[in-house]
Amino acid sequence: MPVRINPSILAADFAHLATELDRISSADAVHVDVMDNHFVPNLTFGIPVVERLLQVTELPLDMHLMITDVDRWAPTFAELGVFSVTFHAEATDEPVALARRLRQIGARAGLAIKPGTPVEPYLDVLAEFDQLLVMTVEPGFGGQSFMPETMSKLVAAREVASRSGLDVWLQVDGGINEQTIEVAARAGADTFVAGSSVFGAADAGAQVQLLRQRALE
Ligand code: DX5
Ligand code: ZN
Repeated sequence: MPVRINPSILAADFAHLATELDRISSADAVHVDVMDNHFVPNLTFGIPVVERLLQVTELPLDMHLMITDVDRWAPTFAELGVFSVTFHAEATDEPVALARRLRQIGARAGLAIKPGTPVEPYLDVLAEFDQLLVMTVEPGFGGQSFMPETMSKLVAAREVASRSGLDVWLQVDGGINEQTIEVAARAGADTFVAGSSVFGAADAGAQVQLLRQRALE
């Protein structure tokens, strides 16, 4: 199974984003956390920052929207030309309709679930999404500890994806480091977001490769 490592720029030096992106050229995508202080108690980036990121990096942008008004904003991010837009299931009554809109615009559509949100209601509609993000911490902040109790959701999603032959990427986000990545990979994850573990390393590129190797073991 291919393994993808997506460093989260939430842990990067915001005064030097372009050079921070140069440190992770061996990554598969850049994970961009958008927060609105309503869905989560924190604020981060918006449209103008994403527009500039698109101009300074060749890496695909993997948007993670931790915002309430996803029906309004997810298509707007997709229209910028990002690679994927992942919105939270808790933030919309019509996740399938929104995913279809995103795909129509030309972005990959991702569905995210918080640690307390069960995966079962979404297993029947997994084919409508390109990616399922199982949060492994409460969304809102970097640097938190991985929650192993979320792994049963990955096992269930991997089972359905394999049985139905779906090419849906299973992403984990929060507390991923060279130890926890092995746990998440064993449970069925193939796409790994890592913030502090990558940008906190002296050699971020080497850390990306180490994570990749651990996920493949
Ligand atoms: C948390 C964000 C994560 C965060 C992960 O709400 O969604 O993407 O950047 O940071 P680490 O890897 O430090 O847990
Ligand atoms: Zn994230």
